[in-house]
Amino acid sequence: MFKKPNPAKRLNLVLIGSICVGEALIMFALPSFGTTSNLLTTFIDVIFLCLITIPLVNWTVTKPMNQYIHDLKSARHTIVVRENQMLAALNALASAKDNETGNHIIRTQQYVKLLGQRLQKMGRHTQILSDEHIERLFKVAPLHDLGKIGIPDYILQKAGKLTESEREIITGHSMIGESILIAAQSEDVEEDLIFTAIKVAGSHHEKWDGSGYPRNLIGENIPIEARIMAVADVFDSLISDRPYKKAWTVDDSYQYIINGSGTAFDPIVIEAFIAERQNFEAIVNSIPS
Ligand SMILES: [Fe+2]
Ligand SMILES: [Fe+2]
Repeated sequence: MFKKPNPAKRLNLVLIGSICVGEALIMFALPSFGTTSNLLTTFIDVIFLCLITIPLVNWTVTKPMNQYIHDLKSARHTIVVRENQMLAALNALASAKDNETGNHIIRTQQYVKLLGQRLQKMGRHTQILSDEHIERLFKVAPLHDLGKIGIPDYILQKAGKLTESEREIITGHSMIGESILIAAQSEDVEEDLIFTAIKVAGSHHEKWDGSGYPRNLIGENIPIEARIMAVADVFDSLISDRPYKKAWTVDDSYQYIINGSGTAFDPIVIEAFIAERQNFEAIVNSIPS
């Protein structure tokens, strides 16, 4: 954690101190110039004050400030490197158990990016969806089903219909994923990768009308990152072969998702989804199931 004191905080003190000391010295030195006009007195005063204040501020504030900024940057860099290492480890963990293909991961990453960028262009959620945050969402998208590592294989790979109790077990993956990620979160970074991953893993099965799980969140209470992930994940599940179903066509999948606007999905995200149809199809065609 970065705990060095910020040198800028001492700037006021240094300025006031150096002006007081400078003025006192000038008062003593001025008589040695003999009788001078007001203009010359002011000029000498300013020159002396600059000669005293500038080196003092430079020595006590500017130089330490440069060092402080340098240390801050390298601390930030260390955090980013650690986050990426953590992300790589978690990704490996998630894919070790996931029954979905690597291409599902690549496609959903691309979809969330498209949806985030489109929402940004539409002027929606621009405070959250900065370029940097969309990149974060892109990076953490593969972790949405991390919690499946806690679900038995016989349920994940079951070809037929799940029983009621099996369905209940599988719905636990949102909370399992969230708990793993909370344990991996750094305390000192407020909006880090893992924090975004927690929102995605914990809420990607919530539904706009409150009928989702695990918390039955409604509408805007569902993090926007999870609302985006939900559309990307369901769309890709529909266009893919799964142990329990054959792949749907893009047309049928699009229609299904659009029909869920306002019930399963956020209507604004669906607007973005419709606007991005061409790009979605391009991804489906270029990255096979
Ligand atoms: Fe899931
Ligand atoms: Fe998925």
